[in-house]
Amino acid sequence: MSDIMVRPETSEDVRAIDVVNLSAFEGDREARLIDALRRSPSFVPELSLVAEFNGRIVGHLLLSKVELRRREQIIHLLELGPMSVVPSQSHRGIGTILIETAINQARERGFKAIVEVGQANYYTRFNFEPAAKWGLSCNLPVPDDAITAIELEAGVLNGGGHIIYPPQFNQLY
Ligand SMILES: CC(C)(COP(=O)(O)OP(=O)(O)OC[C@H]1O[C@@H](n2cnc3c(N)ncnc32)[C@H](O)[C@@H]1OP(=O)(O)O)[C@@H](O)C(=O)NCCC(=O)NCCS
Repeated sequence: MSDIMVRPETSEDVRAIDVVNLSAFEGDREARLIDALRRSPSFVPELSLVAEFNGRIVGHLLLSKVELRRREQIIHLLELGPMSVVPSQSHRGIGTILIETAINQARERGFKAIVEVGQANYYTRFNFEPAAKWGLSCNLPVPDDAITAIELEAGVLNGGGHIIYPPQFNQLY
C-alpha cells in the first residue's frame, strides 16, 4: 500500500496509539505496557512507529531497549512489540510495512539485533529465526522456543546469552 506513511510517534499521537492497541488486542494490557515503557529508559521515541492511512493512525509498532547478558558482557538490543493494526485495516500489508521500516530504522541507528517473544510464526517471514539457533534465553516466563531474533550485525548473537526484559513487561505475563 503506497499510501501508507510510517513515522515516529509524537506526543499528539498517544491517544490514537491507545485506540489502535485497544482495538487489536483483547483488553488493555498492551496499551498499558506501551504507556509504562514510554516513561522508562527503555523507550526510544524514534522507534515507536505509527502507520498513517488517510491521515488516520491505523497501526503501531514499538521497538524498545533490552539487554543481552553474556558472561561479563552486556549488549544493548531491541525488542519488537507490541505491534498492532486496527482490525478494519488488517491483511493489507500495513504490518509488513511497519516491520520492514522498523528493521531498517534500527539498523540505521546502529542497533545490532532485534528479539521478539510470542509470535514466532508471524515474524519468521521477516527473517527472524528461532533463538535456539544462538542459545538465547530470556527472563520472561516463556519457553525458549517462543523467542525469535534477527541479527542486524552479522554474528552478534553468536555465543547466546540471557535477554533481560525491563520490569514493565511483567504485566503481560
Ligand atoms: C499481527 C498484525 C499486526 C498483522 O498486521 P497486518 O497489517 O494484518 O499484517 P500484513 O497485512 O502485513 O500481513 C498479514 C499476514 O500476516 C499473517 N498473520 C497475521 N497475524 C498472524 C499471527 N498472529 N500469526 C501468524 N501469522 C499471522 C497472516 O499470514 C496474514 O496473511 P493474510 O493477510 O494472507 O491472512 C495484526 O493482525 C494485529 O494487530 N493482530 C492483533 C495483535 C497482534 O497479534 N500483534 C502481534 C503480536 S504483538
